[in-house]
Amino acid sequence: MEVQHSFLLRYIYYRKTMQSGLWLVWFCGFFLIGVSLYSTQMLLPSSFKNHIKKPSFFRNDLADSSNPTITIFTAPRPFVGLVGERQVLAIQSWLSLPENVNIVLFSQDSSAISFADEFGSRVSLEPNIDFTFLGTPFFHTMVARSLASSSDISVLIDPDTILLPDFISTLEYAYKLDQDWLLVASSQTISHFPFLLDSNKKHWIADDGKHIGIHKLQELLAQNSHLKPCEDRMLMAWNNGDVPLHYGVLPPFLYGKGLHNHWILTEALSSDFRLVLDASWTISNFYINDLDQENNLLIEGFNVSNFEKRSWEIIGNSHLGRLYGSISLREENYSNLFRFLECGGNYLLVNTSKNIVYSLGYKRSLSLRKKGISLSSIEEEILDCVNVVKSLDRIKGCSVKDQLELLTSISLPLSLETLLSNRANQNKTIVLAIAGYSYKDMLMSWVCRLRHLQLENFLVGALDHEIYGFAVLQGLPVFKYANPLTNISFDNCHFGTECFQKVTKVKSRVVLQILKLGYNVLLSDVDVYWFKNPLPFLSSLGPAVLLAQSDEHNITGPINLPRRLNSGFYYAHSDDITIAALEKVVRHAVNSNLSEQPSFYDTLCGEGGSHRLGDDRCFEPETNLTVYFLNRDLFPNGAYQGLWEEINVKEACTTKGCYILHNNWISGRRKKMERQVLSGLWEYDISTRMCLQSWPRTMFTSYF
Ligand SMILES: *[C@@H]1O[C@H](CO)[C@@H](O)[C@H](O)[C@H]1NC(C)=O
Ligand SMILES: *[C@@H]1O[C@H](CO)[C@@H](O)[C@H](O)[C@H]1NC(C)=O
Ligand SMILES: *[C@@H]1O[C@H](CO)[C@@H](O)[C@H](O)[C@H]1NC(C)=O
Ligand SMILES: *[C@@H]1O[C@H](CO)[C@@H](O)[C@H](O)[C@H]1NC(C)=O
Ligand SMILES: *[C@@H]1O[C@H](CO)[C@@H](O)[C@H](O)[C@H]1NC(C)=O
Ligand SMILES: *[C@@H]1O[C@H](CO)[C@@H](O)[C@H](O)[C@H]1NC(C)=O
Ligand SMILES: *[C@@H]1O[C@H](CO)[C@@H](O)[C@H](O)[C@H]1NC(C)=O
Ligand SMILES: *[C@@H]1O[C@H](CO)[C@@H](O)[C@H](O)[C@H]1NC(C)=O
Repeated sequence: MEVQHSFLLRYIYYRKTMQSGLWLVWFCGFFLIGVSLYSTQMLLPSSFKNHIKKPSFFRNDLADSSNPTITIFTAPRPFVGLVGERQVLAIQSWLSLPENVNIVLFSQDSSAISFADEFGSRVSLEPNIDFTFLGTPFFHTMVARSLASSSDISVLIDPDTILLPDFISTLEYAYKLDQDWLLVASSQTISHFPFLLDSNKKHWIADDGKHIGIHKLQELLAQNSHLKPCEDRMLMAWNNGDVPLHYGVLPPFLYGKGLHNHWILTEALSSDFRLVLDASWTISNFYINDLDQENNLLIEGFNVSNFEKRSWEIIGNSHLGRLYGSISLREENYSNLFRFLECGGNYLLVNTSKNIVYSLGYKRSLSLRKKGISLSSIEEEILDCVNVVKSLDRIKGCSVKDQLELLTSISLPLSLETLLSNRANQNKTIVLAIAGYSYKDMLMSWVCRLRHLQLENFLVGALDHEIYGFAVLQGLPVFKYANPLTNISFDNCHFGTECFQKVTKVKSRVVLQILKLGYNVLLSDVDVYWFKNPLPFLSSLGPAVLLAQSDEHNITGPINLPRRLNSGFYYAHSDDITIAALEKVVRHAVNSNLSEQPSFYDTLCGEGGSHRLGDDRCFEPETNLTVYFLNRDLFPNGAYQGLWEEINVKEACTTKGCYILHNNWISGRRKKMERQVLSGLWEYDISTRMCLQSWPRTMFTSYF
């Protein structure tokens, strides 16, 4: 009895007096019927039977349902300092669970790589999810990766959340359910936890080296842990089933910045696809909370104040939550939530709003009877358990609005200078893309490609407020180009239009500004597909040389003929000569009726090509700038050798040794995108808002 009651000890402190007499009468009657018939299915009232889609609560193949394979997914921060220690302790606690539990770390950090190696085959690394430029993982890609797992049960948990063995017994019970389920358990916080795992990593020991039993630990937790209000910390688990967790698409939430767990919970409840279980009472999970802000700041190692960064990300998540669904945290929204609890060895599902208890552990309750415990004491016991649940709702409401109001006064944009200093590579070079909202998907495909090439030194210049907001939510390093000139509709902003002219003129001005701040710029339009990193090649030519793509379509002949300079892909070195030359270009463009492209050529190569030098260069005599037209086999434009018409564009380009291929010489954004998608040079999944990855994932099928 002692052991079976131990669960209660955790909660007895919270116990309140029974509130509803009616409920008691009803409950007792119900329970008597249930036990006397000794069958789980009989315990279910007909109304509930109608609610669930399958006839039985339990799997038919109960024999196979023991020891389900469990994979725990988590996104650790670097394993350094106190944060690292906390994570190691937590992960050790997971490893102390049986062998059918494996662990996957979402990380690209070298400390995580060596950590995973240390723990052998049970811990593996998954670096191929999406991260923001600040290194924060995207929650929606974590979930998508976890959903692709083949293990029987997937678990998403915070990297410093310690688990006790009741985690396993709860999941094993849940696994016997004959319905797909999603389980959540809120995480408690404790300020002092002076225990470690012993050298076998199986048992918890105290300072004095003495073993400490699980029940003792549970008791301790009950006394000392608490739930922080408005916290989004919970673990989530689901069985590998046929039914999705929720309806709709998970927004690109940033991990650990609040709201994403509640979003899934709320959506799962309102979608009503799966049984949603709150196992906060049966899964002991908690984290040690003695770290201050200072420590967090040091760990993140990024030169943006933590406050600034946090506000950016939290506002982003709140915004997304409102944009893509309602995060309703009110009590009435949880009526579909089953409270899952253990009581004297029995597992119960409780509908707290209707006061119904469903027993799962009928076998154990029978054995209790055999031991001679009277029915009324079981009854008493279950009543106690349920009472505790009723008085202590774990998943609590919290107003999203309050958080938002706190933060709206903080200005969101990071300055261009901050971004440059944090993003430039060791050569002080930045890859720059400038885009408006109508090109958001192409921008993402371009970003995904650069990420794939492990190029992190890119920046996005936003031409309108919409793309700025979009880029913030996608975790891109973005700055606003605040210019009233650009406040025009960009939906039809393609080559030849007035909009196009204005937009392209913005680009040279931004490039000039960045050059003056001391950074080299590789400007790349978002319709340039990158096969490989051109920077080592481009940066080898040194100062006073501007490298630009040639737009010449004639296969033979010079490539520097009048107006053949393409200003959608060029590399400008930050030096006085280049800056002086670009200033001339910008001045010329202001007074021109045309786009900035002719201004580049006419200024640097002379009108009619008067400053041409050989077949592939120009020399601007006033500033002494040399313009190199890039070899078209390596940097082909969209008309060169009909590359876009090849059956296998990728292969054709790779064979030539292309660094890039420009998706130009085609009119209209839609056609452009279509061509790129159909050629397989597309890297972004619009429907799931993620970069295409190596692991299985639903691809978008009918985009056009
Ligand atoms: C952070 O940036 C500021 C300027 O924005 C600079 O003065 C400071 O040295 C930087 N700190 C680190 C650690 O790089
Ligand atoms: C939450 O409950 C309110 C009131 O019952 C309802 O209007 C709203 O749609 C619910 N939200 C969700 C996400 O179910
Ligand atoms: C719990 O009871 C309420 C009230 O009757 C009902 O609306 C809800 O669907 C029930 N929840 C579950 C999970 O059965
Ligand atoms: C920009 O354009 C939008 C709509 O096209 C308009 O509502 C807004 O006032 C404009 N802003 C400025 C600064 O002109
Ligand atoms: C930096 O520039 C040098 C040549 O100046 C080049 O060899 C090197 O590859 C460049 N590094 C990167 C990361 O582009
Ligand atoms: C291509 O260039 C050659 C000279 O190299 C010239 O004879 C020919 O007319 C050009 N073709 C076109 C279509 O301009
Ligand atoms: C710009 O275009 C207008 C007519 O469209 C023309 O009158 C004017 O001369 C042009 N200016 C320049 C600098 O080409
Ligand atoms: C360009 O080069 C010439 C010859 O080397 C030199 O006299 C002149 O000062 C240079 N001009 C600039 C702007 O650097």
